Amino acid sequence: MTEEKSTFGSRLGVILAAAGSAVGLGNVWRFPTEVGQGGGAAFILIYIFFMLVLGVPVMISELAIGRHGQKNVSHSFFTMSGNSRPWAYMGWYPVIAGILVLSYYAVVAGWTLEYAYQAAINGFAGKSAQQYAADFGAFSSDVFSPILYLAFILVLTAVIVAMGVQKGIERAAKVMMPVLFLCIAVLVVCSFSLPGVERGLTFLLKPDFSKVDSSTVLSAMGQAFFSLSVGICCLCTYGCYARKDVNLMKDSIHVASIDTLVAVMSGLIIFPAVYSIDGLEPNAGPSLVFITLPNVFQQVFADMPVLAYGFSLLFYILLVMAALTSSISMLEMSASIFIRKFNMSRPLACGMIVLVCMVLGTACSLSFGVWQDITVCGLGIFDLFDFAVAKLLMPIGAFLICGFVAWRVEEKTLRNELTNNGTIPQPFYPIYRLIVKYVAPICILTIFLRELGVM
Ligand code: ALA
Repeated sequence: MTEEKSTFGSRLGVILAAAGSAVGLGNVWRFPTEVGQGGGAAFILIYIFFMLVLGVPVMISELAIGRHGQKNVSHSFFTMSGNSRPWAYMGWYPVIAGILVLSYYAVVAGWTLEYAYQAAINGFAGKSAQQYAADFGAFSSDVFSPILYLAFILVLTAVIVAMGVQKGIERAAKVMMPVLFLCIAVLVVCSFSLPGVERGLTFLLKPDFSKVDSSTVLSAMGQAFFSLSVGICCLCTYGCYARKDVNLMKDSIHVASIDTLVAVMSGLIIFPAVYSIDGLEPNAGPSLVFITLPNVFQQVFADMPVLAYGFSLLFYILLVMAALTSSISMLEMSASIFIRKFNMSRPLACGMIVLVCMVLGTACSLSFGVWQDITVCGLGIFDLFDFAVAKLLMPIGAFLICGFVAWRVEEKTLRNELTNNGTIPQPFYPIYRLIVKYVAPICILTIFLRELGVM
């Protein structure tokens, strides 16, 4: 069975699917971790700068490349470059990146599932602070349970993606995204009633630039790319499914705004909660949402167990959905190449890829336990995947994409794609062009060279 040409059924479908790809663990788990370790508001300001100067222009470029070719990423690069073979190899970028991201992302997504389950059976009640840390340590370092959850997430993702672009991806985004916003809004409102709200807000809103160094800047850049899922041609894939009447520049700004809003709202949920307990620090790292928060929910609502239960359950359901909408896009970006380039059936392509992710994900999962001593350049397997994706593949991909649209593609072709053949005005087009031509490549290169110690 081969795939018919697929498109999103509506304009909203594109926005929600792209927002679904963007909004994920990156916003609710990775962003607060990076903000906590990067000094709060100072990190957020640098992050927003990168969103505007790098994230949005790269997103616009990816969507334009995808929609121009319509078929698949490889075909898009090929036709837009004036039939250049080497550029067609960019089609493999989303395959490799998608598999690498999904492999370690699905491990954390699996953890969120276990925590949603624990919340549902009221498993957080009546524990001491040490017990939360011990429980998380025991669970994440276990050989079997995290791997079972990993398999569950991968199979669920594969089933949704195998259902197709409109029936699977678009429908899932249309259901999950509104529920996700609702959960976040409810949690923010609850968070504002916590005793630590003032200190949490100060941390999030008052910049302390003394904490900023070159690695903070690289982290903020990596976070901007990771959060928008740009630089790995994920959005080129969704661009292939966008209808010709979609305003790509406007919709990219919508998606980036939704993504940033969700990230900041996650901060508004987490930091007031962390500051509500004496002795807890915002820089607790990746364990923040798995060790710190269950404890916070129980302690803050010690007199109201129903609220402790509701708050925890809602939060972890939110995490599961955020993780799923993003894993869907990661699988789709790899699978679409096999489906469209090699005429493979959707279920076969999805099955094959999740099998590879299962093997790599198992290695990532074991790196928290029995394989924790295996390191490369000082990084464990899981951290190595995260580093390779957010700090290498995404910036390098973004650099190539900017270089491609600015220097390789004919200016008229790009302008026609973004103005829908001159039918819609694009007042920001000259600024976008300036950014992809000079600002973004110079920015990425400078940060890279500084990090390598060359500058
Ligand atoms: N953009 C996805 C996230 O933020 C990968 O989780």
